[in-house]
Amino acid sequence: MRHLIDPLDFTLEETTKVLDLADRIAESPEVYSHVADGKKIATLFYEPSTRTRLSFESAMLSLGGKSLGFAGAEQSSATKGETVADTARVVSCYADIIAMRHPKEGAPLRASMYATVPVINAGDGGHNHPTQTLIDLMTIRQRKGHLDHLTVGFCGDLKFGRTVHSLVNSLVRHPENEFYFISPEELKIPDYVIEETLKPNHSFYKEVTSLEETLPKLDILYMTRVQKERFFNEEDYVRLKDTYILNREKLNLAQPDMPVLHPLPRVDEIVSDVDQDPRAAYFDQVQNGKYIRMALIMALLEIPDPLTGRTVL
Ligand code: CP
Repeated sequence: MRHLIDPLDFTLEETTKVLDLADRIAESPEVYSHVADGKKIATLFYEPSTRTRLSFESAMLSLGGKSLGFAGAEQSSATKGETVADTARVVSCYADIIAMRHPKEGAPLRASMYATVPVINAGDGGHNHPTQTLIDLMTIRQRKGHLDHLTVGFCGDLKFGRTVHSLVNSLVRHPENEFYFISPEELKIPDYVIEETLKPNHSFYKEVTSLEETLPKLDILYMTRVQKERFFNEEDYVRLKDTYILNREKLNLAQPDMPVLHPLPRVDEIVSDVDQDPRAAYFDQVQNGKYIRMALIMALLEIPDPLTGRTVL
């Protein structure tokens, strides 16, 4: 039985197969509408979510299955002190697969040690968000045609941005990718990403503060929200939240085919005028979220693809 807790839980070859299946699902969703008949997904969300929770549920419904779960720890027996380990054991009796979001780093990993069904990390604190990574890879591949030889700029809250940590972890596996980390000093990319991911892979990276100076160098721009919920005091959040705001004027400095990605939700860091620019790729990411999660459910439940007759993992 396999889980997805960290993007590196899948080999490069397995990741590519999941992306290929998601592409096939996007092309012909009707082919897959009954492959998970009788299966159930439990969405255990101890933190708020719109896209991830609803797209997991929509994905399972679109495969013919059903969904159950809770949105917010206060709806669960966590309020009475039930542990993640016991919750995982209990929910394994009711569902065939679990998607868990939790504010504590490592909670989905702990759940996977006690569950008797596959567990998917749907975001753990500021640590990892591997399903968002698959979405980001699918979107980059659609826009650029490849996942190597790219100069990628990550901008905003790189300290708490779990989608950034996971995507860097995955992109270093492809040759000749280079990284610019654009952030204020207080929200720099964590040392562990540099020491454990970038340096061992001999990846070129640069930490900078100016979005305007960096934009012309980039093949991809990945914007992020400054995450209010992870700050210890409101004053720091207010001081940092509008450090980077992407508007049409700044976008004029970028290459004409440089996609703008953002995991969403956004606050003010991308003004709504940018949405009309063909480079805006963040609503493509939203749509791809459903296809990726359909592919992932099929992969972890070992459901064969009706088009190839083969399972992904
Ligand atoms: N991208 C993402 O994780 O969005 P939600 O927080 O709405 O799930």
